Amino acid sequence: MAQNAYAFSIISSLCLMFMFTFGNGQLDYKFYDNTCPNLTRIIRNGVWSAIANETRIAASLLRLHFHDCFVLGCEGSILLDDTSNLRGEKNALPNRNSVRGFEVIDQIKADVEKACPSTVSCTDILTLATRDAVFLSGGPFWPVPLGRRDGLTANETAANTDLPSPFEPLENITSKFVAKGLNLKDVVILSGGHTIGFAQCFTFKQRLFNFDGAGNPDPLLETSLLDSLRGICPNQDNSDTNLAPLDVATVRKFDNSYFKMLVNNSGVLQSDQVLMTDNTTAACVLNYSKSLPLFLKDFAASMVKMSKIGVITGQEGQIRRSCRAVN
Ligand code: HEM
Ligand SMILES: *[C@@H]1O[C@H](CO)[C@@H](O)[C@H](O)[C@H]1NC(C)=O
Ligand SMILES: *[C@@H]1O[C@H](CO)[C@@H](O)[C@H](O)[C@H]1NC(C)=O
Ligand SMILES: *[C@@H]1O[C@H](CO)[C@@H](O)[C@H](O)[C@H]1NC(C)=O
Ligand SMILES: *[C@@H]1O[C@H](CO)[C@@H](O)[C@H](O)[C@H]1NC(C)=O
Ligand SMILES: *[C@@H]1O[C@H](CO)[C@@H](O)[C@H](O)[C@H]1NC(C)=O
Ligand SMILES: *[C@@H]1O[C@H](CO)[C@@H](O)[C@H](O)[C@H]1NC(C)=O
Ligand SMILES: *[C@@H]1O[C@H](CO)[C@@H](O)[C@H](O)[C@H]1NC(C)=O
Repeated sequence: MAQNAYAFSIISSLCLMFMFTFGNGQLDYKFYDNTCPNLTRIIRNGVWSAIANETRIAASLLRLHFHDCFVLGCEGSILLDDTSNLRGEKNALPNRNSVRGFEVIDQIKADVEKACPSTVSCTDILTLATRDAVFLSGGPFWPVPLGRRDGLTANETAANTDLPSPFEPLENITSKFVAKGLNLKDVVILSGGHTIGFAQCFTFKQRLFNFDGAGNPDPLLETSLLDSLRGICPNQDNSDTNLAPLDVATVRKFDNSYFKMLVNNSGVLQSDQVLMTDNTTAACVLNYSKSLPLFLKDFAASMVKMSKIGVITGQEGQIRRSCRAVN
């Protein structure tokens, strides 16, 4: 009896070892520990220099990762350039002249390829770079489970339909999150990503001048912020690409000020401020506005959840040599 139990425990240990060695379709925190031991250091250095060159790039990387994961899963489809037989996602409406950070991923990928050729996927690089970008901006640190592989295709239509728009109502945004296995609480927490970065005027301008068709601004917009946003975005077409901070108090710092701003009717996007119009989401916003540690902890957990959407593992997909093209 004792012998049987012993034999059984040896067999199950061997099975576990097999699963960890050859992959069982699950992500693994130690995935590259043996095959690319310097990976985290290479990525950290790359993100650090990119931020030293331009602070905003931290925000851009965070958004790039979000837009990767929401379209066909976290598999690097957004990184693919258009070809004669592939319409990629870079020109989809939510991405074109808007999503940024591709050159940073190219640079880090080149450094990683030098140290460990054909080993680390582009989507894992983007996921780790995003974690570092948030941390280096003052946000939380979280361990990233790894082993995602790069996809073989992209889908412009899916980018247009699956990514949320700042002009749609909360119910629509929520159903897009639910379709990816996230929930209403994740909508609130992850919208907290807007604690860093900028928005172009055209993404919120209709709130400033003619929200109701009768020439009035959005009544949910605090009046002193209204004045300053009208200064950045005058009522003429050539202001459409001017930039306003999404968190008007501390745009460079990853903190909970975004939520304090929402409580004060100072959210910039309509899709931000509507989080205060629903009782459930408003209660979450109020909680995060009062507790920085609670927000940082919940944000890290939701980021890990988002980074697992639709991942490709095991033998499927590939490890791209260049993030811009399938091998
Ligand atoms: C909830 C639905 C969301 C909507 C409707 C939305 C919409 C937008 C829009 C319109 C912009 C400005 C883009 C531009 O001006 O070109 C933006 C920027 C940004 N978004 Fe979101 N977003 C959402 C969720 C998220 C999530 C989940 C994250 C990450 C966790 C995120 C991170 C960012 C960041 C960091 C920026 C600034 C990027 C930069 O400065 O380059 N957003 N978002
Ligand atoms: C890791 O980086 C260190 C310091 O740059 C270097 O000495 C070492 O050779 C690298 N190890 C591998 C396996 O690339
Ligand atoms: C530095 O940032 C600017 C934008 O501010 C960008 O155009 C340039 O390519 C960046 N340079 C490097 C080396 O990353
Ligand atoms: C692209 O995505 C759209 C919308 O999700 C879907 O209808 C279509 O079948 C996809 N195209 C391909 C080639 O997978
Ligand atoms: C919200 O979703 C509904 C149902 O899918 C759709 O009919 C409507 O056009 C959407 N609204 C916006 C503003 O996108
Ligand atoms: C909210 O607005 C009020 C009045 O404009 C201001 O006194 C207060 O400091 C603001 N709170 C935050 C957190 O910005
Ligand atoms: C939401 O809050 C408002 C105002 O506090 C209240 O009148 C309403 O009954 C609440 N709705 C629900 C569904 O709890
Ligand atoms: C707010 O935080 C308290 C604990 O601080 C928690 O019990 C409550 O469920 C939270 N409410 C929401 C809506 O997150």
